[in-house]
Amino acid sequence: MLCLSLTGSNCEISLSQYEKHKEVIQLVELRIDYLDSIHVDEINNLLKSISLPVIATYRRKRDGGLYEGPEKARLQVLKDMLDLDFTYVDIEDDIKRLDLEDKARGRSIKIIRSLHDMEKVPKDLFLRIMKLHKKGDIAKIAVMPRSLEDVMMIFKVNKELKDIPDKVIIGMGEFGIPTRILYKKTGSLFTFCSPEGEEAASGHLTPEIMHDLYHADRVNENTKVFGIIGNPVMHTSSPKIHNPAFYQLGLNSVYVPFLVDDVRAFFQLADLLSIQGFSVTVPFKQQVLPYLGKISREVKLIGSCNTVFQSNRVWKGVNTDFYGFLKPIQEELDSQRIRTALVLGAGGAARSIVWALRNYYCRVVIVNRTAEKAKNLAGMTGSSWRPVEELGSIHDIDIVVQTTSGGMSPYEDVDPSLGYEFTGKEIAYDLVYKPKNTRFLTRAEKAGCRQICGMDMLIAQGVLQFESFTGFLYPQKKES
Ligand code: ATR
Repeated sequence: MLCLSLTGSNCEISLSQYEKHKEVIQLVELRIDYLDSIHVDEINNLLKSISLPVIATYRRKRDGGLYEGPEKARLQVLKDMLDLDFTYVDIEDDIKRLDLEDKARGRSIKIIRSLHDMEKVPKDLFLRIMKLHKKGDIAKIAVMPRSLEDVMMIFKVNKELKDIPDKVIIGMGEFGIPTRILYKKTGSLFTFCSPEGEEAASGHLTPEIMHDLYHADRVNENTKVFGIIGNPVMHTSSPKIHNPAFYQLGLNSVYVPFLVDDVRAFFQLADLLSIQGFSVTVPFKQQVLPYLGKISREVKLIGSCNTVFQSNRVWKGVNTDFYGFLKPIQEELDSQRIRTALVLGAGGAARSIVWALRNYYCRVVIVNRTAEKAKNLAGMTGSSWRPVEELGSIHDIDIVVQTTSGGMSPYEDVDPSLGYEFTGKEIAYDLVYKPKNTRFLTRAEKAGCRQICGMDMLIAQGVLQFESFTGFLYPQKKES
């Protein structure tokens, strides 16, 4: 079940949040601590307008809520709420108020016994859940993972506490996001989400992202898990490439972003969750190599891998950046209309691109802000290099490839090609995909060049990844 936390400052706003998202949720939590003032009549009317079960939650600041007043007043409000038609009431683990519990039980309102640790994942997580379980109908624990090891501990809970079906275990913050999306793999009854821009807790996604993108409520024990590892990782567009395609083909699979601090820990988590394959982004494209049983020719050549998947029980690494980059210019390469290339940048991305072009026997000249790096990459790949100051004297180029982060948000004002004079005959290829119209591409457009933006490559490499992951061709978009 997807549970929407209502975070309105009054009942009217909370009702509109419910109305907006009601089609994709199954449960609602009224966050009483978000209300500016508490009017029992208004809350009563709100409950009458909601046709789903509702949890009454009045959260203290120290547990991640907004309430800072005296405890006695808070508990009195909670007790008053038990006269209304709530289905659940959230009572924190440390509250010893039998009158509250008896009243809830007398009104058949189920008790969620909750425990929050905003700092860490307690070492005795299992024990704490056992204790919570003994006190309430549902045990709920929300903890703050600080590493992937912590995330693993949360997923392990389900294996060890299978005989406690009524539980909710949540990892907060960015590390915890997989535990929210894969809540069923933690053995949780439900997962929380918030309206856009109104995050009730760190790491809440919107109900639409949970439902339409991840189909979190469809995950079951047979669901195959795929993902992307990176640091940072939440900005990635890759879930939007893979999840809709799984859905369109009717595959019981989900693709999840994993914030990773330690590649070794991720491979352990991959075993625990039987992860079938994953994309690799900055800064792990080289760090994954020692864990791979098989690598493709281009991974060996470039020394960097962006796609890992299970192949005959070993992890195989391929590099779809290499082919994804080539895809939009394949015809020109095959017909040898591209023979000379100027590559701007000499980092990890440039490395794949220079090798891909050299593989088609292109003559490549590399220009980079730090000349030493251009020189090294040129030496490694049999290319040439020139200092930035000499961009103006580079001629007879068939394609200019911009591989640096210059032009990417928040560096929109940067154009690493400045000094180079476009003739209009070159293809201008920018790896940046946000924003779409970089200064580099705008200048090339003015000169009359054909332009290729980073989104084309991103999609092309993602499509190839999908095919490596699943063995299926990436589905064509349905005609609308
Ligand atoms: P990636 O894996 O995305 O290529 P990287 O390995 O860190 O990332 O490489 C970043 C590249 O972008 C480098 O070539 C870097 O130039 P330096 O070697 O001089 O650092 C280049 N780059 C980053 N910001 C830039 C800017 N503002 N102007 C020009 N080049 C820039």
